[in-house]
Amino acid sequence: MTDKTFVFFILLFITATASLSCSESAEHISKRVFPVAAQQIIDMDARVAQGMSPRTFENELVKDAGIRAWTSGFFPGTAWYVYEYTRDEKLLEIARRRTLELSSLPEYNVGHDIGFMIGCSFGNGWRITRDSCFLPAIKAGAENLAARFNPQVGCTLSWGEFRESKFTVIIDNMMNLELLTTAAKLFGADSLKDIAVCHANTTMKNHFRNDYTTWHVVAYDPQSGDVDFKCTRQGYSDDSAWARGQAWALYGYTMTYRETGQTAFLTRAENIAEMLLKRLPKDGVPYWDFDDPGIPDTYRDASAGAIMASAFAELSGLTADSKLARRCHRMALHQVRTLASEKYFATEGNGNFLLRHSVGNLPDGGEVDVPLSYADYYFLEALIRLGR
Ligand code: GLY
Repeated sequence: MTDKTFVFFILLFITATASLSCSESAEHISKRVFPVAAQQIIDMDARVAQGMSPRTFENELVKDAGIRAWTSGFFPGTAWYVYEYTRDEKLLEIARRRTLELSSLPEYNVGHDIGFMIGCSFGNGWRITRDSCFLPAIKAGAENLAARFNPQVGCTLSWGEFRESKFTVIIDNMMNLELLTTAAKLFGADSLKDIAVCHANTTMKNHFRNDYTTWHVVAYDPQSGDVDFKCTRQGYSDDSAWARGQAWALYGYTMTYRETGQTAFLTRAENIAEMLLKRLPKDGVPYWDFDDPGIPDTYRDASAGAIMASAFAELSGLTADSKLARRCHRMALHQVRTLASEKYFATEGNGNFLLRHSVGNLPDGGEVDVPLSYADYYFLEALIRLGR
């Protein structure tokens, strides 16, 4: 073979692989991702002690957390999604066992993140199997979350004391509202849905800037309900757009519209989507903060990309604006293609996690450019949603 022919074949190969990743369907991505995910979960399950939950893989070391950590629902939740796709009985066994392990959470009263913890595990267990063994956790978890509601503020409490405030609400807590609306439907408890609607309305009024980016934290006076201050704890600066916060906002308003049918929530989700569609980098995976002046020489956050992909996929099926629907669907697919590429998707190793390159909490110097259990969870959820 001459040098010229050799170069020709190399170029042909590169073009063919590039065009495959630009046009790979969600179905095809799922076909290669879910079998890998099944094996990684089986190996993870064999490694992680009972009563612990996998969190990340940092400096070649796996890091697990106790089941009281906010992330404890994601491993069982990921196993539920893999079971939903593969129908492999081994995955069902792992998903059930790892879900029921969370029954030792003290009366499901472990703070504001209970929606993540119970929704991803017991919530998916109930959704997929309709086994009533999953119901008590959903009821108790929702009631405990509702007990954090302050009617003066109009929100459930996120953090306790923080920077001179005793009542802070973080944008992340939009995600916990699904536990309230699910329990309201299951147990006929309208008051739980009312709390969710009120929290979403208050957050819509106070958390957003004029350009539809969101602060991370809003601090309230718990007696008067007045806003004391606004800031961003996990982002670049108080006034920056922390990527995962924007992802929680998009997902949160899309979900609260699906759950309540209130059009104001759909409009907010559409506005956030427009903002993100304008600001996301070319490959669809955000830098960890949209306003980090170090861009492009800073970290990506695959977890934010995965959460957004899942939310864009859902929003594309809910919005009545057909042009926006197409753009959201295209972005969701584009994001999962990037996440399923060699740069992000690990077919083995990686502490048995699927995705590389997420950022947990950069200002605290923790979990930077690492795999994270929630990145994997929302990545698979996005694929399942695109498959529907
Ligand atoms: N809810 C915590 C986080 O997004 O980091």
